[in-house]
Amino acid sequence: MAVVTVISFKGGVGKSIISQNLAVYFAHKNVEVCVVDADPNKSTTMWHSYRPDDLSPVDVYHVPKNGDLLKIVNSLSKKYELIFIDCPPALEMVTSKAVAKSDLSIIPVATTGGNDIWATKEFLEHLEILRGRLDAPIPAYFVVNRFEANVRLHQAYLEILGEYESNYTIKLLKTYLAKRTAYGEANTQGLGVLEWDNKKAKQEIKLLAAEIETLLPNFIK
Ligand SMILES: Nc1ncnc2c1ncn2[C@@H]1O[C@H](COP(=O)(O)OP(=O)(O)OP(=O)(O)O)[C@@H](O)[C@H]1O
Ligand SMILES: [Mg+2]
Repeated sequence: MAVVTVISFKGGVGKSIISQNLAVYFAHKNVEVCVVDADPNKSTTMWHSYRPDDLSPVDVYHVPKNGDLLKIVNSLSKKYELIFIDCPPALEMVTSKAVAKSDLSIIPVATTGGNDIWATKEFLEHLEILRGRLDAPIPAYFVVNRFEANVRLHQAYLEILGEYESNYTIKLLKTYLAKRTAYGEANTQGLGVLEWDNKKAKQEIKLLAAEIETLLPNFIK
């Protein structure tokens, strides 16, 4: 089994959308998958409440206030093959421990402006400290989200992410998720884009999931 944490310092970069869409992808492949909603804003718990019963099941567990995230993940690891942790926008003590225990951390990043990039750098510095303090390798990958290929600023920020790859222990996943209304539309109905009528969104989620799968060679029970 494997645990994948989806985390960032920044709010609104797509942690919940990515957790949901990847979980839906693996549910369609008959993987026993769940999402642990570690964010008090409960986005993924709400999403799940709209999910039609007749679709591939994606169980969602919300971590109660003062709940022990690691304990919850440990107990779920007996039942599920794959667990996504949808984190709040912070690297707090509790989420840090989850990150340290995860097989993989995915950090969604927006390339829409300086704020995104500075927050990402701060996050990477925290990650380095955490690696040292917890003596854990913490494999971490960026995924570019809400990308607009025809916007020069987005292209320019890709170069900065490339510099981060050279200066920190982090890699950039090859698949970018473009800015598409399909993500919000599917989300509103408790769906993933795989279950929505948008070929390009479907295709990029499949590519992203396949890429992530190669990073988790031992996840099937
Ligand atoms: N690729 C995309 N294209 C268009 N809209 C997107 C995309 N990804 C996310 N969104 C939209 O951006 C908003 C924020 O996404 P999401 O809730 O997943 O971010 P988050 O990082 O989980 O935020 P928070 O830190 O507040 O939990 C949502 O309205 C979502 O529908
Ligand atoms: Mg969220």
